[in-house]
Amino acid sequence: MASIPATYLLYLSVLITISPTSSTSIIEDLNNIHPPPDFNTIILNNCAKNPSLRYCNNPSPDFSEIFKSTIVTNHLCHESNNTNCPDSFVKIDLQNRKKFAPLYLSFSFFWKYCPLTILSIDLSNSSLKGDFPTDILHCSQIQTLDLSLNGLSGEFPLESFTQLINLTCLNLSYNHFSESKISDTQFFKRFNSSSFVHSGLVPDYHEFQFKAFVLLFGFPLCVVLVVICLGFICFLRPDYLPLFLQSKYKFTPAMLKAATDKYSPTNLVAKIGKFEIYRGTLREGTEVRIEIYRETIPRQEYKKFVAECKVLVQLHQKNLVQVLGWCNHRGYKAVILEWREGKTINLWLLNSLPTWKQRLKVLRKILEGVLYLQEHWPEVGFDLTTSSVLLSKEGEPLISRFRVGDGNSNKKNIYKFGVLLLEMIANKQSKDFKQGEASLIEWVKTHYQENIWKVIDDRLRKTGITPEQADKGIRFGIMCAEVSTEHHFKMAQVYDIITRFYESTLISRSPNH
Ligand SMILES: *[C@@H]1O[C@H](CO)[C@@H](O)[C@H](O)[C@H]1NC(C)=O
Ligand SMILES: *[C@@H]1O[C@H](CO)[C@@H](O)[C@H](O)[C@H]1NC(C)=O
Ligand SMILES: *[C@@H]1O[C@H](CO)[C@@H](O)[C@H](O)[C@H]1NC(C)=O
Ligand SMILES: *[C@@H]1O[C@H](CO)[C@@H](O)[C@H](O)[C@H]1NC(C)=O
Ligand SMILES: *[C@@H]1O[C@H](CO)[C@@H](O)[C@H](O)[C@H]1NC(C)=O
Repeated sequence: MASIPATYLLYLSVLITISPTSSTSIIEDLNNIHPPPDFNTIILNNCAKNPSLRYCNNPSPDFSEIFKSTIVTNHLCHESNNTNCPDSFVKIDLQNRKKFAPLYLSFSFFWKYCPLTILSIDLSNSSLKGDFPTDILHCSQIQTLDLSLNGLSGEFPLESFTQLINLTCLNLSYNHFSESKISDTQFFKRFNSSSFVHSGLVPDYHEFQFKAFVLLFGFPLCVVLVVICLGFICFLRPDYLPLFLQSKYKFTPAMLKAATDKYSPTNLVAKIGKFEIYRGTLREGTEVRIEIYRETIPRQEYKKFVAECKVLVQLHQKNLVQVLGWCNHRGYKAVILEWREGKTINLWLLNSLPTWKQRLKVLRKILEGVLYLQEHWPEVGFDLTTSSVLLSKEGEPLISRFRVGDGNSNKKNIYKFGVLLLEMIANKQSKDFKQGEASLIEWVKTHYQENIWKVIDDRLRKTGITPEQADKGIRFGIMCAEVSTEHHFKMAQVYDIITRFYESTLISRSPNH
């Protein structure tokens, strides 16, 4: 390991003895000192013998610099209490050497040719200030580095440490490096937290553990959660899915629950036995009427129910309440319809005192709905009583009760319309009669001939219907409702007749209009 010949060391030791160990004199000496004439040859010989020496790798060596570094090497070797200096220079020990440590650090030529023998550097508690002394990193072979108990600050050159592959013992504790978390797991495997006590640097155990946790458990867990969430949304609240993924007419129990604010009593419109009507608001804001039949229904029935609903959602006419969808569940089935502000025809008759003209106008519009159903949906039956047909706020009558499979025929429809017409003239409901519609028809038939005003609604009379109009209306109503007679007219003709009645009210000058 001899890098400097013995003769030369003699010269150096003389030099050291003559220079006092005061820092200033060393610097002065170094500046004034010049390599002896044969120094170049000595270095070249050394390199020939041992090419791995640091200064041998330099293609154009600065011999004056190398000379100065050999002097510092010798000096520092003794200063560090190595025995057999400089051949066995294994450690730089400047611990607690507040005066010398900064000075030696400032000799960058020394660090540049850092002797390969040095395995340990201890600069702890020696008043180092400022940035990390990167010159030390030239000693890339070291195994131990202690910089603890100093005032080092600034960025810590984490990357440069990868080249110190033999470094196993590092101490940076008690410094003021810029606060940063060491999440570099490679670095962290080499040095644990006791190397960084109060150094400003925090080995980020937690981040490492967190990353491992995320990779091992978090990610699969997330996938599972996402799948569960999607499943949850699909089955319970499909209204949260993008529009193109939603099934248009199918509602889930959770959707109805949300729409009615958990079936809140304030949203309950009517309850008749197991049949409930709720007013609700869908997620996108549409107001709906939800009709629920709370009954345990056999599976087969459900299939029928859904098939029926699939027909009903296709009905589109302005005088029919729009069916929006359905919901089938083990405990109930529900139909969701558009919400229309309004009242039933019989309430309208009782409270609003409509004129004959107004009644005919409504009847005409009801017929438009009937014509549509008869023409396009012969399998769909419907109710035409004053208690089932609604009148919207805008004055539009709305047929609201349908039955798929019941069917509608011209004859049946004309009969139903006849009863409705009679109900609207008499202001009576067939359900108030003992035998329903038959009794109503019978009652009208027996009474209108003796005294027509006995049959006509008193309030209608006051609005100025003429006896002729009343007579025509009643007779047409009876004609329609007469099941036994084989009438040959069609629904379109009924519509024409009602239209004519209506137009005649526009010509005749009733006092109310
Ligand atoms: C250096 O060695 C001498 C004797 O070998 C000893 O007295 C002295 O305390 C040592 N100094 C340090 C800093 O270890
Ligand atoms: C650091 O040096 C001071 C003197 O400057 C000394 O009092 C102290 O004990 C030293 N600390 C350690 C841990 O060696
Ligand atoms: C690290 O140590 C090994 C064996 O002790 C040595 O061969 C190698 O050159 C050293 N690495 C450096 C960069 O000094
Ligand atoms: C840190 O490493 C040193 C040796 O490198 C070991 O003695 C010490 O127990 C370790 N401390 C922790 C907290 O792992
Ligand atoms: C680093 O130095 C500090 C202070 O002297 C000490 O408490 C700590 O144990 C040392 N850590 C290691 C890894 O040597």
